Amino acid sequence: MGKALFITGTGTDVGKTYVTGLIVRHLRQSGRNAGYYKAALSGAEPDDQGELQPGDAVYVNQMAEIGEKIPHLVSYVYREAVSPHLAARLNHTPIDFSRVEADFRWAREKYDYLTMEGSGGIICPLRWDDQQHVILDDLVKRLDLDALIVADAGLGTINAAVLTIEHLRARAIGIPGVIFNHYHPGNIMEEDNARMIEEITGIPVLAFVQDGDKELDMDPDRLAALYR
Ligand SMILES: Nc1ncnc2c1ncn2[C@@H]1O[C@H](COP(=O)(O)OP(=O)(O)O)[C@@H](O)[C@H]1O
Ligand SMILES: [Mg+2]
Repeated sequence: MGKALFITGTGTDVGKTYVTGLIVRHLRQSGRNAGYYKAALSGAEPDDQGELQPGDAVYVNQMAEIGEKIPHLVSYVYREAVSPHLAARLNHTPIDFSRVEADFRWAREKYDYLTMEGSGGIICPLRWDDQQHVILDDLVKRLDLDALIVADAGLGTINAAVLTIEHLRARAIGIPGVIFNHYHPGNIMEEDNARMIEEITGIPVLAFVQDGDKELDMDPDRLAALYR
């Protein structure tokens, strides 16, 4: 069975998918058998045939040249751009976590380095009905994963990143580091944001991604060592 790493973010649209694409591509370019998995995706657009397209999975599959079949990359796809628990309720298709676990295990058997992208931030309800109350952090614990955090480099990130780290720590979820997205080298606030997050929490900012970057500026061996 391969190693795995969970990618969370300080919020929706922070760049989890973009950074995950760079990560998986970087691992594959270093000769590693790296794959992608996402449990639940909401906000999927239908294609010409009316089939829902899970944008995140399609993007990473293409960007990182994984060549996987789309249904193997994501277990639940919803059209509504709302939290998965609500999309599931609207569609009467609640997440079955034994299916998620089975799909995750399948991917982990196939790939040596499996990157699992979260939905939204770490407090993202996945199922909230009469039978179960499950938030994303519960799933991360169930799958026994460490969580790498993607954060915006700009204003407000100290608060968002430190709160995310504090919550992960409260749940005893390991945190290998933070990756800054939308970074502008030489911007003193963004540089200070990285330093402040490191000093307040002791968690390192491992890499800095700029707009339009096509490569991750990080030693691939160091990146691979984050997986367990
Ligand atoms: N470094 C970047 N350079 C260019 N576009 C980016 C970058 N980071 C994010 N984006 C764009 O911003 C949008 C949101 O990013 P995405 O990775 O989908 O966020 P998330 O997965 O956290 O919801 C997407 O359109 C994505 O292509
Ligand atoms: Mg995404």
